[in-house]
Formats: sequence, structure tokens, C-alpha cells
Amino acid sequence: MPIILGIESSCDDTSAAICKDGLIYSNTVANQSIHECYGGVVPELASRAHQQNIIPTIYQAISNAKIQKNDVNAIAFTRGPGLLGSLLVGTCFAKAFALANKIPLIEVDHMQAHILAHFIDDPKPSFPFICLTVSGGHTQIVLVKDYFNFTIVGQTTDDAAGEAFDKTAKILGLPYPGGPLIDQYAQLGNSAAFKFPEPKIAGFDFSFSGLKTSILYFIRDEVKKNPNFITTHLADICASVQLRIITILLAKLKLAAKHYGIKNIAIAGGVSANSGLRKALEQAALENNWQVFIPKFEYCTDNAAMIAITAYHKYLKQDFVGQTVVPSPRLHW
Ligand code: KG4
Ligand code: ZN
Repeated sequence: MPIILGIESSCDDTSAAICKDGLIYSNTVANQSIHECYGGVVPELASRAHQQNIIPTIYQAISNAKIQKNDVNAIAFTRGPGLLGSLLVGTCFAKAFALANKIPLIEVDHMQAHILAHFIDDPKPSFPFICLTVSGGHTQIVLVKDYFNFTIVGQTTDDAAGEAFDKTAKILGLPYPGGPLIDQYAQLGNSAAFKFPEPKIAGFDFSFSGLKTSILYFIRDEVKKNPNFITTHLADICASVQLRIITILLAKLKLAAKHYGIKNIAIAGGVSANSGLRKALEQAALENNWQVFIPKFEYCTDNAAMIAITAYHKYLKQDFVGQTVVPSPRLHW
């Protein structure tokens, strides 16, 4: 039965995982702290750090799974979307490894992999289900009819939900990535302290740029009146912003679930680690009689286990690619 080595290098985390017959045996992640002081990911620094991290990360994954390099039957990599330089590192390594070991090569779409992370552990969603995929670069409502039958029914028209968290953090002077910090402060604050506007946008699409501007102007005006406004109200600001982002996400998710008559609802991507969103989804499940699927924390943010499990399902279909494959920085499905 297949042993698959999966590699993820689309942004600023280098990750490798081993999947053996559909089960994950290891998942190692090397984070890049170098971006913290720049307030965001610097693409050139990210690709250089991937080059340094990729071999040790892969060896660690192989060793944690207690296998040998020669046991690997197929190698999978994130083809996109992501930063070109970062994707190139994983793609080139995978191509070389496939060639040297005479094994098949499998390309994986990063956003599909976030969704298929739900097939790592039990309980697994049954088809069809709706997945709210919320990451640093994307915000989508996806109708999932089968492993590789996805339809994006709604998406952001400007910023992603993760960007809304990260940009708010930047306005508040918090380091990158700000999402997890806003989550932490929000747990100590009053979410009714400040009211931020809800965008009026049709259908199942999202918009977060207006919210970002309103937060920027609100903070600017309050700081003019009281230079210590941020420090004295940090938890309340974070809780109020977080609540607004969550209500925007859940309103559209409920609309889509009702429209398609689907009660199997999942969340995926980095923002699905948010404790407020996880709680709000559980609450919505009770109110709407949904069965909800919330990923383990380690499978919310970028990881190679999701690449390896997606590749396993591609392996079963013998869906391989040749050596001419190149990264695809933009979403291509
Ligand atoms: O999926 P991901 O790891 O990378 C991309 O594919 O973009 O998502 C990263 C995003 C970042 O914007 C980060 O701030 C956000 O996920 N994030 C969170 C939390 N953990 C990560 N946002 C809110 N609350 C969290 N706990
Ligand atoms: Zn991601």
C-alpha cells in the first residue's frame, strides 16, 4: 500500500508529512520567524528560508514515521496557489526526488488540501458538504460533492478573512501573524464594547476591505483623543473586531447552507483555528441542526499532512504529473 511523502511550501511554513495507506504517520513543520519584524511575509526571505529548511524537515518527517527514504512510493507537493519563490522550492525538490527514486509525482492544490484535511481523522464528513475555507489569502464557501468535485459558490471580493485579522493586528501594533494574537486578546475582552460595520454584499460573497478601513479610522480618531487608547482597550477592540469578522463569515455560511439544503458543514484554513469562530460554529450547529466538522489545530494552519492525504486520494486514481510541471501561484480551479 502506498507510502506518500507530502511537501507544503506555499507561503512561510516548510512542512513535510508521511501518509501510509491513508493514515498520517508524521507531520513536521518549520516556521519562519524572520517575517515577524516586517509585519508580513517577505517573499524573497521566505523562499530562502524554505531552501534552508526543506531537507531537515523532510528527513525529520521520514524519521518520525520510522521509514526509510527508499520506502516512499510517491511524492506530492503544493503546486499553488502561493508565493512563486516558495512554491518553486517544494516543486523542484519533489521533481528531483521523484526522478532520483523513480517514483510518481503528484501535484496538489493548496486550497483543496485545506478542505481534504477533514479526511485525515474521524469523524470524516460525508458528501456533499459545504466548507468555509478561511486562510491568509482566501475566503471561500465551497460546495464539496466528492474528493475532487469542488464548486466555489462564494468568495471574497477583496481581502481574505485572515488578512482582516492580520491587518487589524498591524493597525494595533501587534506582530505578524496577528490572527492568533487577536484571538488571545479577544478572549479577555468585551465583544460588545465597539461596533464595526457589516458590509452589504450580495449572494455568498464576502468583503473585508471596508471593515479594515473603518477600524483604521476608528483607531486613528480614538488615539487622537487618548494616546493610550490602544493599550487600555486592546482586549475589547480585539473581541469586537473578531466578533464582527465571525458574524460576517457565519451569515454567509448560513445563507449558503440554507440555499443548498446541506447540513454537513466544515471549516478549514488558518482562521479555522480561531476559538471564537469554532465556538460560533458549534452554536450555529445547535440552532440549525447541522453536523459540523472542525479540524484539529495542527491541520488548520499550513501543514503537509493535508497535502499527503490529498495526494493519497489522487494516488488511488493514478493521477500523476510529469517532470514538466511548474508552480501555479494563482488559484487554478
Ligand atoms: O491557512 P494558513 O496557515 O495560510 C494560508 O494559506 O494563508 O492561514 C494563515 C492565516 C493568517 O492570516 C493567520 O493570522 C490566520 O490564518 N490565523 C488565525 C488564527 N490562527 C491563524 N486567525 C485568527 N485566529 C487564529 N487563532
Ligand atoms: Zn493555507
